[in-house]
Amino acid sequence: MKIVLSGIRPTGNLHLGNYYGAMVNFLKMQEDKENNCFFFIADLHSMTTHSDPKLLQENVRNILATYLACGLDPEKATLYIQSDMDDISKLYYLLATLSPVADLNKVVTFKEKSQQNPDNVNAALFTYPVLMASDILAFNADFVPVGKDQKQHLEFTCHTASRFNQRYGVNYFKEPTPFIAKDQALVKIPGLDGSGKMGKSEGNCIYLIDEPKAIEKKVKGALTDNGPEGVNTPKPEYIENLFTILKVVSTPDVVAHYDNLWKTGEQKWYGNLKKQLAEDIITVTTPIRERINDIKNDDAYLRKVTQLGAEKARAVTSKTLADVREIMGLNYFK
Ligand code: TRP
Repeated sequence: MKIVLSGIRPTGNLHLGNYYGAMVNFLKMQEDKENNCFFFIADLHSMTTHSDPKLLQENVRNILATYLACGLDPEKATLYIQSDMDDISKLYYLLATLSPVADLNKVVTFKEKSQQNPDNVNAALFTYPVLMASDILAFNADFVPVGKDQKQHLEFTCHTASRFNQRYGVNYFKEPTPFIAKDQALVKIPGLDGSGKMGKSEGNCIYLIDEPKAIEKKVKGALTDNGPEGVNTPKPEYIENLFTILKVVSTPDVVAHYDNLWKTGEQKWYGNLKKQLAEDIITVTTPIRERINDIKNDDAYLRKVTQLGAEKARAVTSKTLADVREIMGLNYFK
């Protein structure tokens, strides 16, 4: 069995890009009998940049409900909250003793976050990669599916694993393989504003919890023009983008229909295209939105899921921590 592990920072709502870029991949991995999947909410990591307790609670509730609504299954995968795992925090300290400040100083996300938020450059932000290494090494994960912005953090994890093994003359930690979304030929969902990808900070997103009316409005507002300039011309990026989204939410015959219309060079069908696109997005998101709203306020269920997850996860991490203590010499008076 391969151990697959990934953390999700609880910041804001999931959009279509997150869904097709990461979630669909998680769902596939969870179904694979060869995988033992661990997915967790990285609430401690989110505290490096956000500190409002109310907002934290809301975000964790939201993201957990969303992941469950999308189909992550607490029976198949282990779903837990990072801060429920005392072992991770303990391992974090132990691994910090092996983490060169010079390496942490080179981490690009640290530099970016410090620049964005010069009044809140805290020690936890600086040691973000150490906590991430603990998340991963506590399970000796084989595969870590992440976005490409996390690549440097994963390299830090690999270095930490090999430094530990070298320093203590063991072969205990595995170096995990990053599973960068881009390499997996997953779709990159573009934004509705003509260029680039869908992203929270770009403000061009369709969220899974958007009401149908909001989705219709956003799709209607997507950038278009008067139509093709001739027969069989190449599509400009903003039109190609609409087709990219259509391809993931609609059936192949619908895509073929509009593709043919494009090729004829005819104009005046973008209205229909957008109507169809909105409708098919709504078909995908509606059951998810309804489930999110059902689950979100079901404290008993959320508690049950996270307790079960934490128990299953602790069964693995307690063994790691005991081994690491032993290897590092923290086992007195046996
Ligand atoms: N840093 C990751 C992000 O921002 C979240 C994360 C925390 C994570 N711990 C992890 C991802 C361990 C993979 C493995 O998206």
